[in-house]
Amino acid sequence: MKDILKVENVTKIYGKKTVLDNVSFSIKEGEIVGLVGPNGAGKTTVMKIITGLTPKYEGNVYIGNENIRNKFKNKTKTKNVGCIIETPGFYPSLTGEENLKFFAELSGLEDLSEIDEIVESLGLQNAMKKKVGSYSLGMRQRLGIAQSVLTYPPLLILDEPTNGLDPNIIPEIRKFIINIAKNKKVAVLISSHILSELEIMCDKIVFIQKGKIITPEDNNASEAMVRITTSNIAELQKFLRKNNYKLFNLAINSVEFKIDPSELENLTRCLAINKIPFSTVEILTESLEDKFLNIMRGDLVD
Ligand SMILES: Nc1ncnc2c1ncn2[C@@H]1O[C@H](COP(=O)(O)OP(=O)(O)OP(=O)(O)O)[C@@H](O)[C@H]1O
Ligand SMILES: [Mg+2]
Repeated sequence: MKDILKVENVTKIYGKKTVLDNVSFSIKEGEIVGLVGPNGAGKTTVMKIITGLTPKYEGNVYIGNENIRNKFKNKTKTKNVGCIIETPGFYPSLTGEENLKFFAELSGLEDLSEIDEIVESLGLQNAMKKKVGSYSLGMRQRLGIAQSVLTYPPLLILDEPTNGLDPNIIPEIRKFIINIAKNKKVAVLISSHILSELEIMCDKIVFIQKGKIITPEDNNASEAMVRITTSNIAELQKFLRKNNYKLFNLAINSVEFKIDPSELENLTRCLAINKIPFSTVEILTESLEDKFLNIMRGDLVD
């Protein structure tokens, strides 16, 4: 599959502050990528650069192989990026339907039947004839999502789209985004400062902190936490310590430690050779949340 978005060594400086520091990542067709980081990490800044709202930066951004800098130079209109960045702006005195039609025309959508499909899958049918001024925040957010995907652009940028939404409707929104990514092959970049919200819907997570991208791979992600149960904890402990494993959660009949899963077979063979009994070996997969928190705490971060 081809890359739809490529962000290459993007740096953004405001005054004396480096807000983005050599940021690089890419997104393929139909892929959902989560951009996760604490407040002020630089999520909105990256998204504004990608959508052309912030024209000055170092580095390069390619959308479908075209450097977006050339696009703005040539003044060609961007139809290939849909976005919601900060609160979507609508005309309050127009109805939901009128607003969507207005944006649809702006983006050159001819087949208006697509609107119905989108409106329905976002549960907005009943709100279409109401003025946007009377919408709740949740309705406005949903209308924003509808507007951003009107033309099924190849790239969709969603900056905290579920911010302030009723938790009940978040699963619906998630389903909608997964559906357009997988069925319409839209590449999606979605941000949040809550990892657990994104974890279940994203193919890949990009962590950002203080303007820098942190990849879990940088932090020994190849090592998994493993728990071994044994009837002879003393011997097992001795053996593992001798082999330089750092032990965690030592219990009467079990111990945990970090190991590259590809070395596990060898380890169990050695245990057998050394007549150290063990009844179970479990890989306790570190959740992404743990990984994220570990990275954020880790030495990598200055
Ligand atoms: N126009 C600007 N001028 C000066 N500094 C800015 C500007 N826009 C953003 N910043 C700074 O850049 C940093 C990153 O901001 P950004 O809005 O990208 O963070 P964020 O990750 O989106 O945070 P949040 O989770 O709060 O939305 C912050 O320190 C912010 O103060
Ligand atoms: Mg932001």
